[in-house]
Amino acid sequence: METATTESIRVQSLSQSGLSHVPPQFIQPLHTRPIPNNPSSTTIPIIDLFGFDPIHRNSTRDSIARACNEWGAFYVTNHGVPVTLLDDIRRVGSTFFNDCSMPVKLRYACNSGAAATEGYGSRMLVSSDEQNDGVQVLDWRDYFDHHTLPLSRRNPNNWPDFPSDYRKTVANYSDEMNVLAKKLLALISESLGLNPSCIEDSVGEFYQNITMSYYPPCPEPELTLGLQSHSDMGAITLLIQDDVSGLQVVNNSDGGWVIVKPVSDAVLVILADQTEIITNGKYRSCEHRAITNPDRARFSVATFHDPAKTAKISPASDLINELSPAKYQDVVYGDYVLSWYTKGPEGKRNLDALVLES
Ligand code: OGA
Ligand code: NI
Repeated sequence: METATTESIRVQSLSQSGLSHVPPQFIQPLHTRPIPNNPSSTTIPIIDLFGFDPIHRNSTRDSIARACNEWGAFYVTNHGVPVTLLDDIRRVGSTFFNDCSMPVKLRYACNSGAAATEGYGSRMLVSSDEQNDGVQVLDWRDYFDHHTLPLSRRNPNNWPDFPSDYRKTVANYSDEMNVLAKKLLALISESLGLNPSCIEDSVGEFYQNITMSYYPPCPEPELTLGLQSHSDMGAITLLIQDDVSGLQVVNNSDGGWVIVKPVSDAVLVILADQTEIITNGKYRSCEHRAITNPDRARFSVATFHDPAKTAKISPASDLINELSPAKYQDVVYGDYVLSWYTKGPEGKRNLDALVLES
């Protein structure tokens, strides 16, 4: 149980207090520590969408198929979202974390007792790791979660009003990301020979959340993670970051971690678990994590597109036949979310639990 005191503690205040060691609850067990491996020369693909110009559609679709097969994550450029809007959301978000006092920020504190509530918080992913005697390890991260779609969930009064264009910017960004996510799911569906609306129809109306993450400088980056290893729960995540590296994805060819270098103006696409189920495992969700560094705070904005809690998700019927039977159990999305929050993500454990024996 969290107490009133820990409720008001944020990682940023710990970092600013000038500790030279991280508190024990942030120390990862040996097997999850980010031991620096040889800097890999591999990088995830950068795909030019040419503004979705039909002339380029065949080649774009082929690049997407390759990227989804190899990584489950890729950058897109010429995506149609104004670059000024990407800069604006980075600016308003960083201003909230960097320039508001802690008491002002805590006015927006989320209810840490419940999963995924809207607002300013510090713990979201909690693993109770059997190999670590059930001890919970905390992420070196603060976040602000915004509920943005459907519109019935969007209440900008719950969001900061400083800087003055904060609320307007988040609302515009939500709308633009919604459009981009739909266009990308259409290309991803087509890249599997499916009808363009196939994945979107399976997901149903998008439940969209925008999570801004703030990773303060950490005195012992080799012992901690900004965000523990996980795959995202929903259908598709669109992420932008500042110029500080820290995000890593698993390289499917050797299982090692590869840093996702920031690419200014590009949007990172991350396939999430429901897309793996809908595509019957043809495309796997991408396992990722964030590491910390001692020098500079890092800022990112992740936009999640999820099914409704009541939606039942199953492999697309067009991909199932006698030779290629369903590989995943059907799941009610709300049940999936609940298991994720009760057990913790621990890589892709929750999705693995739905895999049918062949
Ligand atoms: C997430 C996530 C990565 C990052 O919020 O699910 O993976 O770089 N974020 O902040
Ligand atoms: Ni994630």
